[in-house]
Amino acid sequence: MWRVKPLDAILATAEKKSLHRSLGAFQLTMLGIGAVIGTGIFVLTAEAAQKAGPGMMLSFVIAGVVCAIAALCYAEMASMVPVSGSAYTYSYAVMGELVAWMVGWALILEYAVAAGAVSVGWSGYVVGLIEAAFGIDIPAQLTLGPFDGGLINLPAMFVAGLVTWLLVIGTKESATVNAILVAIKVTALALFVVLALPVIRMEQFTPFMPLGFAGVSAAAASIFFAYVGFDAVSTAAEETKNPQRNMPIGLIGSLGICTVFYLLVAAGVIGTVGAQPVMGPGGAHLDPGSRELAAACSAINDGAVVCSKEALAWTLRNIGWPQIGNLLGLAAGLALPSVILMMMFGQTRIFFVMSRDGLLPAAFSKIHPKFKTPHVITIITGIAVALFAAFFPVGQLANISNSGTLFAFAAVSIAVMVLRRTDPSRRRPFKTPLIYLTGTLSTIGCIYLFFSLDEKSKYLFVIWAVIGLLVYFGYSRSRSHVGRGIVDVPELEGDAPPPNVVRPADEH
Ligand code: ALA
Repeated sequence: MWRVKPLDAILATAEKKSLHRSLGAFQLTMLGIGAVIGTGIFVLTAEAAQKAGPGMMLSFVIAGVVCAIAALCYAEMASMVPVSGSAYTYSYAVMGELVAWMVGWALILEYAVAAGAVSVGWSGYVVGLIEAAFGIDIPAQLTLGPFDGGLINLPAMFVAGLVTWLLVIGTKESATVNAILVAIKVTALALFVVLALPVIRMEQFTPFMPLGFAGVSAAAASIFFAYVGFDAVSTAAEETKNPQRNMPIGLIGSLGICTVFYLLVAAGVIGTVGAQPVMGPGGAHLDPGSRELAAACSAINDGAVVCSKEALAWTLRNIGWPQIGNLLGLAAGLALPSVILMMMFGQTRIFFVMSRDGLLPAAFSKIHPKFKTPHVITIITGIAVALFAAFFPVGQLANISNSGTLFAFAAVSIAVMVLRRTDPSRRRPFKTPLIYLTGTLSTIGCIYLFFSLDEKSKYLFVIWAVIGLLVYFGYSRSRSHVGRGIVDVPELEGDAPPPNVVRPADEH
């Protein structure tokens, strides 16, 4: 179980289809912003406020800094091992099959559960838009999950189904579509900032940390979700011109721009409509996404931003810009599906590589004869995402997704340091600056955020990991291609990835 997949065997796959180096710092930054801005800022701002109050501004900074240093470690790996499978593949080469399996297993949480979270976020905005713009009252039973005071979130299931269908027929997001969606998202957030900042009142910022620093940490662990997606930038390393210069600009640039936007938006929400948590009877703290909070919220006549499923549109409507609020809802409705697409695409690709390595059933990498896409695994992923989206609250899904992502990021940070020792002379198109310091800080940051997650998410992560171990020892270990001596060079085996199963950079 400590067997590694030789790095050279992994690279042999990549070399056969080496890619043209065409991306510059600007394109990388756009790629990053396109993948990153989504449900985190549009929806989870309300959840962060419920946990930290105005102190959520600190949470945005903490989560952004952890992401930035993890991104620098990610980039070195991605530039050395520029093939599909992301953190799973890197770990396979460095820390052996068991760790790789656990990372791949955790990435299922990162991608599939995140796609569910973004679907729920999309639903909140689209339902809010339909209700506000057309005066149609859709019953909450059909638009909210059981923990949020409803029964089933049908719009979230719908968008998950729609994206699954797009992926089955082989839709890929082009650079042009990405640029348009980035423009829509950035314009929507900029408009929000321009309208909200002039009317903020400083007294809304006190008390700054109503639930102490623990609240700030808990909100940072949730809001970490708002930054996830930058791995899309790291995995484009092979196609980057002068990666040593452009990679850090693209990573830090996109994370920096997002952080600035997030802080301005958060300040706009806090300063205008106030962001103090809604407390239960006797001042008890209520968890976002709990039935208790849903009940407390329904008792507040004018509402509160922490109760809103469309925090930014709600804020604009409350400060006298109802039409712009609707436009912002429209922007979210248009742009969020591309984040879902990216997440589900990432998921199918990781399943595909794991199945090609023999760790998951071969049927998972079956290719559709007409569409040339891995339709079996795409449909299975789509069903899982739709079920998550139908029944779970957005914040819980985001936290569960974060638990998997933090585990994978910590594993990559360690792997980069290990590889500097064990394979110092290998070519590294991008080298993480001050690797031992950066790698250590990144690992510590990920562990700190992981332990700041809510108890439920941590337990679920442990249960998921135990299931993963059972599957590994019960199924995957004996079927592993590396274990059976079939060192995988797909082109020679005749099961080369289909044209549509490409690294994310290919689609931009
Ligand atoms: N960062 C992405 C979002 O916030 C996942 O939706």
